[in-house]
Amino acid sequence: MRYARLGRTDLEVSVLGLGCGNFGGIGSAPELFERGDDEPTAFALMDAAREHGITLFDTANAYGGGRSESMIGRWLASRSGARDDIVLTTKVRNRVGPDPGDEGLSARHIKEQMEASLRRLRTDRVDLYLAHEPDRATPIDETLGAFDELVRAGKVRHVGLSNFSGAEVDAAAHAAMAGGFAVPANLQSSFSLLDRAAADDAFGACDRHGVGFTAYSPLAGGWLTGKYRAEHPFPAGSRMTLRPEPYEQFTNDTTYRMIDELAQHAAARNLSLLTMALAWVVTDPGVTAAIVGPRRPDQLAAMCAATDVELTPADRATLGAVTTAGA
Ligand SMILES: NC(=O)c1ccc[n+]([C@@H]2O[C@H](COP(=O)([O-])OP(=O)(O)OC[C@H]3O[C@@H](n4cnc5c(N)ncnc54)[C@H](OP(=O)(O)O)[C@@H]3O)[C@@H](O)[C@H]2O)c1
Repeated sequence: MRYARLGRTDLEVSVLGLGCGNFGGIGSAPELFERGDDEPTAFALMDAAREHGITLFDTANAYGGGRSESMIGRWLASRSGARDDIVLTTKVRNRVGPDPGDEGLSARHIKEQMEASLRRLRTDRVDLYLAHEPDRATPIDETLGAFDELVRAGKVRHVGLSNFSGAEVDAAAHAAMAGGFAVPANLQSSFSLLDRAAADDAFGACDRHGVGFTAYSPLAGGWLTGKYRAEHPFPAGSRMTLRPEPYEQFTNDTTYRMIDELAQHAAARNLSLLTMALAWVVTDPGVTAAIVGPRRPDQLAAMCAATDVELTPADRATLGAVTTAGA
């Protein structure tokens, strides 16, 4: 495993992070609570990740309706030394209940949700606390002020953002500096060979403000494993059968053609498509770490192999051209 400094923080993180979004559900979607990984699977994944040297763990208050955080909390409590080894990330913003105030980035909601997350995670602090998405109904100063209070109280080491545009990262960084609040240290957004918008939109803002970028869905939710094939039904139980909405733009002949072409490049390098696609993400100079979502412990080895693959800028451009040309 390789490690990298997250932005301007003192946090060293593994360049692959363990996404815990499948624990107890599939992300934040209420209709899929209990449909994701059960607790023995989650524990096996966390044990395997730790054995591979993965130290960055990613969850959210809303994943599995709190089940993801609870499973991590029980695992941390049962594994000696684990809490100090892990850079623990959680998030706030997505809906956690039926009432109008049960979502968003208001100071009140952040304060309440922080306490709930700490309880479920069975810890006294999180290392990275992210705004899961922008909340345009709440002034950014209110959110940053609430985050800053958590940092001052020692409940959060660093704050960050997720799914913010480059302009929103700029605005948040400027507001934090003007207000004397903790400056966001991390942007977590989707980034893969099939979804490259963040590179054009947000990498510049991250660079300007010393914000570390972490890439979620680096395999485009599984598409870059090659498991989805033209004219074949989606495999039973796969993401596309459970939660297809975020990936519907991939279900077309152009994407299938691009994936076939990328698979040929991978074979020529003696790599699996999955390993090469992840290597493409983690060798981008704008990326600090990629957050992966394995479903079984044995899937981690091919993921970790990506951190040993050297792709030159020319290699990266060749692979990038496959999806640019087809986009
Ligand atoms: N901030 C945000 O808004 C946000 C959004 C999304 C994700 N995230 C974070 O990022 C993490 C990773 O996201 P992601 O799950 O979308 O990442 P991903 O790595 O792009 O996709 C993971 C999916 O790939 C498939 N997969 C992985 N290894 C495989 C293998 N060897 N063979 C076949 N299929 C394989 C599995 O699909 P199947 O489930 O079909 O088996 C798995 O669920 C999440 O857990 C979460 O922590 C954050």
